[in-house]
Amino acid sequence: MSTNIGNWLDERIGWRNIWQTIFDRKIPKVNWLYTLGSASLFVAVNQIVTGILLTIYYVPTPDHAYDSVRYITTEVPAGWLIRGLHHYGASAMVILVALHMLRVILMGSYKFPREVTWMTGIVLLLVTVGFGFTGYLLPWDQKAFWGSTVGTRIAGTAPVVGDFVLNVMQGGDELSAVTLARFFGVHIWFLPAILLLTLLVHIYLVIRLGISDQPKKGE
Ligand code: HEM
Repeated sequence: MSTNIGNWLDERIGWRNIWQTIFDRKIPKVNWLYTLGSASLFVAVNQIVTGILLTIYYVPTPDHAYDSVRYITTEVPAGWLIRGLHHYGASAMVILVALHMLRVILMGSYKFPREVTWMTGIVLLLVTVGFGFTGYLLPWDQKAFWGSTVGTRIAGTAPVVGDFVLNVMQGGDELSAVTLARFFGVHIWFLPAILLLTLLVHIYLVIRLGISDQPKKGE
């Protein structure tokens, strides 16, 4: 029965070919370090799923943000779990992406023909850090408020563009409801859109070029 449905669909949309291209690829003899990209992808999916669930109760205003996060943690069924997965997943993602990048550097996998994979990786790294920075403010507790105050002021010390960047980030002279709304908007719309588009290109290139072989001695 399931084979019949599989055949019926394959004749129309050719899914077996897509499946083989994505999951049945030949890979060189590699080691565990080569799983760090897939581990980053796994955590990214976790962040997207748990993040979407968190928006059901989270309210991005100074009056309600803190209380809504507390409500999620203490009252919503499995809310503590969803928030915990998102909270620790954020740290895990930064660590995994950094380790994945380190592996790429150490194995020389950024070299021809994988320069564009590397460049899209840089965008993914910046987006990951951006997620961490904008997400940090959202619980709107003391740690979030003062941590983000320090973070935005550091950005404000950049030469020439510092004042402009600080103003755009804060939406005024200090952290306010506008800042929270901006950080939330960037966290749930801008960054996910860039992440998904860049990931698509990154993974397409990984599949198209194949995984690089381990460098031999003297290479
Ligand atoms: C959200 C972040 C990222 C995800 C989900 C991701 C995902 C992946 C996956 C699944 C692979 C194939 C498996 C592997 O080699 O581990 C890969 C390969 C690769 N990634 Fe990433 N990556 C991310 C960030 C980065 C960063 C920050 C860089 C470097 C700046 C980078 C550069 C590369 C390169 C050059 C390859 C090809 C490696 C090879 O062929 O040996 N990636 N990535």
